[in-house]
Amino acid sequence: MTPTVIITGAAKRIGAALARSLAAEGWDVVLHYNYSRDEAKALAKELKSKYMGRNFPVVQCDLSNTDAVLSFFERLPSGNEKPMALINNASTFNAGSIEETSPALLRKEMEVNFDAPFFLLQSFKNSFEKGTIINILDTKITSNEGSHAAYLLAKKNLAALTKMAALAFSPDVRVNAVAPGPVLAPARKSEDYLVEKAGNTPLRRKVELSDIAASVSFLLNTPSITGQIIYCDSGLHLL
Ligand SMILES: NC(=O)c1ccc[n+]([C@@H]2O[C@H](COP(=O)([O-])OP(=O)(O)OC[C@H]3O[C@@H](n4cnc5c(N)ncnc54)[C@H](OP(=O)(O)O)[C@@H]3O)[C@@H](O)[C@H]2O)c1
Repeated sequence: MTPTVIITGAAKRIGAALARSLAAEGWDVVLHYNYSRDEAKALAKELKSKYMGRNFPVVQCDLSNTDAVLSFFERLPSGNEKPMALINNASTFNAGSIEETSPALLRKEMEVNFDAPFFLLQSFKNSFEKGTIINILDTKITSNEGSHAAYLLAKKNLAALTKMAALAFSPDVRVNAVAPGPVLAPARKSEDYLVEKAGNTPLRRKVELSDIAASVSFLLNTPSITGQIIYCDSGLHLL
């Protein structure tokens, strides 16, 4: 039986890298997207041609719509094996200090970065009973850096949820997290932004996509680990 993993925000960037590496490790991958339909379909085509006979369905869902999130698993295409893993990777990353954060910004950041992972994690447990969940956090959860206050508060909550759910869902579902440091520059920033961020880490290096994939793979493949957060961040959480 080929195991199936669901990755949210899988069309591009870190999500797509995880999809490629897990497909190479033998997983079928459900590729979730919101707006990036063409990229998701292109990735599915690439994976299908590389791994003949395997399943790489694409599923659209706006994760800021809680009703859609609650029915997400009911809308998975039939034909795949029961999912064994869920990776909550999709994210919004909007700037704003506490003073600048409007009710709309707070809601938007919470909806995608906390509420959606919460209800996907809950639905996964209620629907499939067994498996493993990985939440993608951000190494900044160890700081109180205020430039993206709503985003950071949502990720801090998701870190707390990782541990609470790990205990609540034991022994059937393991829940872990990866907290990346600087991997890719945000959409509207140049490569210089990343070079500067990477230069300020203790290891003076950016985090490779393959490092994130290796951390995810380690958590998926280590049955005695739950409630763990791997800081894959060139040491940034130490500062
Ligand atoms: N990039 C980094 O260096 C870095 C550093 C620290 C932590 N992280 C974390 O690592 C993860 C991946 O990072 P990334 O930079 O690859 O993410 P990203 O490109 O900013 O976003 C990933 C995907 O999230 C999806 N998304 C956004 N809003 C959505 C919504 N309302 N409904 C459904 N999907 C939505 C988008 O899907 P569509 O394109 O299909 O709309 C997007 O492609 C995130 O959790 C991020 O917080 C990244």
